[in-house]
Order: sequence, then structure tokens, then C-alpha cells
Amino acid sequence: KIENNLRPQLLTDYIGQEKAKETLKIYIEAAKERGESLDHVLFYGPPGLGKTTLAGIIANEMDVNMKITSGPAIEKPGEMAAILNNLQEGDVLFVDEIHRLNRQVEEVLYPAMEDYAIDIMIGKGATARSIRLDLPKFTLVGATTRAGMLTAPLRDRFGVVNRLEFYTVDELKTIILRSAQVLDVGIDEKGAYALARRSRGTPRLANRLLKRVRDFAQVKYDGYITEEVANYALDLLDVDKEGLDQTDRGLLLTVIDKFQGGPVGLDTLAAAVGEDAGTIEDVYEPYLLKNGFIQRTPRGRVVTEAAYRHLGISRENNEK
Ligand code: ADE
Repeated sequence: KIENNLRPQLLTDYIGQEKAKETLKIYIEAAKERGESLDHVLFYGPPGLGKTTLAGIIANEMDVNMKITSGPAIEKPGEMAAILNNLQEGDVLFVDEIHRLNRQVEEVLYPAMEDYAIDIMIGKGATARSIRLDLPKFTLVGATTRAGMLTAPLRDRFGVVNRLEFYTVDELKTIILRSAQVLDVGIDEKGAYALARRSRGTPRLANRLLKRVRDFAQVKYDGYITEEVANYALDLLDVDKEGLDQTDRGLLLTVIDKFQGGPVGLDTLAAAVGEDAGTIEDVYEPYLLKNGFIQRTPRGRVVTEAAYRHLGISRENNEK
């Protein structure tokens, strides 16, 4: 898959997340020197910032295989036990959306993470007993959009915890130039910058938009991505100059139109726009907060002056 080619395979090819990158580099080198598996790693933060990519890089750098699963995919403790039991020494087990593991499945992970062992119940009633099964040493890499949703016992068992941040426009521009090379599409600096500006601080989105803009460049222009091509395509895609899409703008407009700019509680807002409150909190809100378009107050979400300005709405007129 081309998508996978856009993913860097090694830490040196990975752009941005400098803090996570620098510390991981040291932990990986230290573990390799000792001939041990890497300690368990948790990545958290908004979607599309590189959690899966970094898990793959960890496996590559440690020279081990990676098994991928997710919280909602594992329903029974026995399924988790089987996955763990089938790992090879040193393997990376990547669990996406790890906050969605159910309680019983999560409890299998505790001894697995701490002692590389699972406890299996044999028999029933008075004769029931548990036996301990040793596992290969492995590295659990967990990913979640909501670190706050992890139970304390699970969170505490990760030796390394990294919060992933939104990327700067410059970092995104570098990623876009690299991806354009991989995709073999011509792009100039200004075209890359225009795309980066509108990528919401998110590499996954930058790469997706790059592919769409490439289509426009190919069909409507001469195949080369300039600022003009990028702006033309992104306008058609309803991605505005700040990278906001229709859902982002819809959220802001709802707060303005229905709640006089706020404050409005998260659940009330979710009901008004017909979205899940958790999705608003994890997916849409972080970028709007980061860009200063909304603020969280004790009484709810408030739309800022910058948002009114960006949307071209006068606060005074709206309040009458
Ligand atoms: N492609 C997607 N994310 C990337 C990153 N952080 N660095 C380089 N290429 C990427």
C-alpha cells in the first residue's frame, strides 16, 4: 500500500515530535545494549499524529515483529491470552484505542506487562485453581486519544508515556515535500506551504490532502502542485485557510448561533450538532483549542473573538 510507503520506517526519517523521538532513541539504544525488550510505551493525543507510525518504528529499530490489534477488537480474556501467548521474544504488541479494552481483558494485561506471565483458571468451584503461564518478553505499545480514560492500574504499567502534539506548519511542509517525493509528484515550496497551512497540524490529513491535490494537479493542471493548484483544490474540498473543515466550522457556528457564543456544556453541544461527545472532545476540539478558536471554561465551551473573525461574523450583530 502506498499509504504505508508514506510512513517513515526509522526514527531518523520521522519528522516532528522531537521530544518523543529523542527520548525513544535513548530507550531503544539502552534496551538493545542490554539485550532486553523495550519497556511498555503509551502514546496519547489526537488522531493522525503518528501513534501507529511510531509503534512500527519502535519494532523496526528493535528489529522485532509487530502484531497489531485494538481495544474494541478483543472481547474475551482468552483472546488476549492467545495473542500474548503467540508473541515471539521481544515482539511489539500494538493495541490501538487501548482505553476501550473491557475490564476482564485489561486484567489479563496486568501480570503480562509486569511479570510476562498470564494466570489461567483451571477447573470449577472448590477445585478451581489458577496456573501461571510464562510469556515471551514483549513490548506493549498502547495508543489512545484519551489518556484520561485509562484506568490507573493500566496507565501505571507503562514505563514510557508520550503525549503527541500537533505539528508545526514547517514540520508538515517537510513531511509533504517528503511524501511528494515518495508519490513522485512535483510540488514547489509555496504549494507545500499552502497545503501544510491547511492540514490541521496533522500528518495523516496532510498526506490525504496531498493525494487529492495531486489528482487536481493531474487533471486540471499540468501535474505540478503550486500554491494556486493547492488553494484551488482545497477550496473545493471545503478545507479553509486555517485547516478547518465543515465539521469544525459547524461546531463553531452552532455555539455562535444556538448558544450566543457560549458557554455551552459539552453534552448539550454534542446533542445540538448530532455528534458523540467523546468524538468532539478527542477529535474536533483539540485543534480548535490549540488554534484559539474555542476555550474551555468551568461553565462550558466558549467561542473566541478569533473564531468570530475567522468566520467573518460580527459578535455585536450576533448578540442582538
Ligand atoms: N508521514 C507521516 N507522518 C510522518 C512523520 N512524522 N515524519 C515523516 N513522514 C511522515
